[in-house]
Amino acid sequence: MSDALLEVAELTVRFGGLIALSGVTFSVTKGSVHGLIGPNGAGKTTAFNLISGMTAPSSGTVRLGGATLDGLPTYARTARGLARTFQNIRMFREMSALENVMAGAHLGTAESLGAILCRLPAFRAQEKQAIKWAREILSLVGLADQAERPGGDLAYGDQRRLEIARALASDPKLLMLDEPAAGMNPSEKLGLIDLIKKLRARGLTLLLVEHDMHFVMKLCDRITVLNFGAKIAEGAPLDVRTTPTVIEAYLGTKVARGLEVKA
Ligand SMILES: Nc1ncnc2c1ncn2[C@@H]1O[C@H](COP(=O)(O)OP(=O)(O)OP(=O)(O)O)[C@@H](O)[C@H]1O
Ligand SMILES: [Mg+2]
Repeated sequence: MSDALLEVAELTVRFGGLIALSGVTFSVTKGSVHGLIGPNGAGKTTAFNLISGMTAPSSGTVRLGGATLDGLPTYARTARGLARTFQNIRMFREMSALENVMAGAHLGTAESLGAILCRLPAFRAQEKQAIKWAREILSLVGLADQAERPGGDLAYGDQRRLEIARALASDPKLLMLDEPAAGMNPSEKLGLIDLIKKLRARGLTLLLVEHDMHFVMKLCDRITVLNFGAKIAEGAPLDVRTTPTVIEAYLGTKVARGLEVKA
């Protein structure tokens, strides 16, 4: 059996005349943190949009746990175990942190509308369960004491954590993070590194887009590099860091020399 959780094969998308992603193939090993890096406009977020089903590819396939996701809408992909966060924070700013996480939960067995309207015991039990689950996730990401505060009132780094909590609420197998450390201060970034390590230790698989190369190199087991929509390199952090095409297209020599890599 393959140890790949996510398999992306020959993924291509055109927007008018622009080929935003061109025949991209990579796979993400179960239980790993996989980095997807490259310069602005390289196609990283586009890849996330295709994998999560927000954009339809021109050609190519995406498989999760050996089963194809092609043609499935976003919610069906969520139900199969895929969750993501967005480059720009998306949340209900007036709703509490707890409610934001509950909104992200995928309801397994929906109650009938009649039952919900009547607030029958089965629905109340389900709601109680949902609150308990959301509190557990908030505590996992270190926001237990912020549960009742409106999402929009949280500190910036905590809003980014809340995004992760919302994505975790659907109990995913694969969590895709689009620039989770963007705008964070150094101590918030260290906290985020610890959180991602904790999630990996619990068996979650992560696909990470991030421009902070210290962050990426410290965390990732494997890295795929995109440039102008095409894959230009792939490998362990140490290999990618020393690949001339990657240094030329993205890292620059100074940065590449100073990077610490995952032990
Ligand atoms: N819906 C769209 N319609 C037209 N062009 C698009 C669309 N989405 C993305 N693009 C273009 O596709 C290319 C890849 O964009 P994408 O957002 O994937 O880059 P990125 O690697 O995430 O960059 P960044 O690091 O700046 O977030 C860019 O040239 C972008 O302008
Ligand atoms: Mg992007």
